Amino acid sequence: MIPDPRLCAILSEADGKVLCDVGTDHGYIAVGALLKGKAERVVAADVSEKCLAKCVALAREKGVESRLKAVVSDGFSEIDDDIDVAVIAGLGGYETIKILKNAEILGRVPEKLVLCPHQNAKELRAYLKNYCIEKDYVVKSGTKFYPVIVALKGGDGYRDEELEFGKNMPPTHDFDEMISTRKRVLEERFSGREMPDAVRREYEEILRLC
Ligand SMILES: C[S@@+](CC[C@H](N)C(=O)[O-])C[C@H]1O[C@@H](n2cnc3c(N)ncnc32)[C@H](O)[C@@H]1O
Repeated sequence: MIPDPRLCAILSEADGKVLCDVGTDHGYIAVGALLKGKAERVVAADVSEKCLAKCVALAREKGVESRLKAVVSDGFSEIDDDIDVAVIAGLGGYETIKILKNAEILGRVPEKLVLCPHQNAKELRAYLKNYCIEKDYVVKSGTKFYPVIVALKGGDGYRDEELEFGKNMPPTHDFDEMISTRKRVLEERFSGREMPDAVRREYEEILRLC
């Protein structure tokens, strides 16, 4: 298993008797949760049978196969187990929204969600209007920065000014580095040139956060 700050952060948040890992792929989260005692049972789901097979092979290799149920499923559509916590990581914000929307229709949204979108986090945050945001922080993995969002059912989501960069809650060094990196990138890109309105708004938000 690969030691990776993003996966470690996700696993640190993913406590629950029954955990569902949506979009499991290699299975590092699903199998890692069992190995670390984060969950008693894991439902590993992937829309791709081929990807799911990687997770099953890893579970077999690590000797936790009996506590893992592998399901080919688009989001929660084929999952009828009682799930305490679900991880949706490594998918785009729009795909995550689609999965949550369908889960809401089916009444299958678990009490706790651990979300780590690879892009369009802003759109996902805007969607989480009816969720309580317990945490939203940044973790750096390699040269990339990822948001880790822990959301509980029932709440009032984000304030408008939190949509772009999240809540930095709890505060992390990686958040500060992400903000200063983005500031530098924008200053270099628009050196001597006027920023378009959307970029100017982002830049002003960055200055507020610095
Ligand atoms: C980049 S991998 C992420 C693997 C792992 N969750 C992580 O964060 O490292 C994305 C996986 O999500 C799966 N996936 C994409 N859309 C999905 C959906 N609607 N339901 C279930 N799985 C999906 C893909 O088949 C792929 O295996």
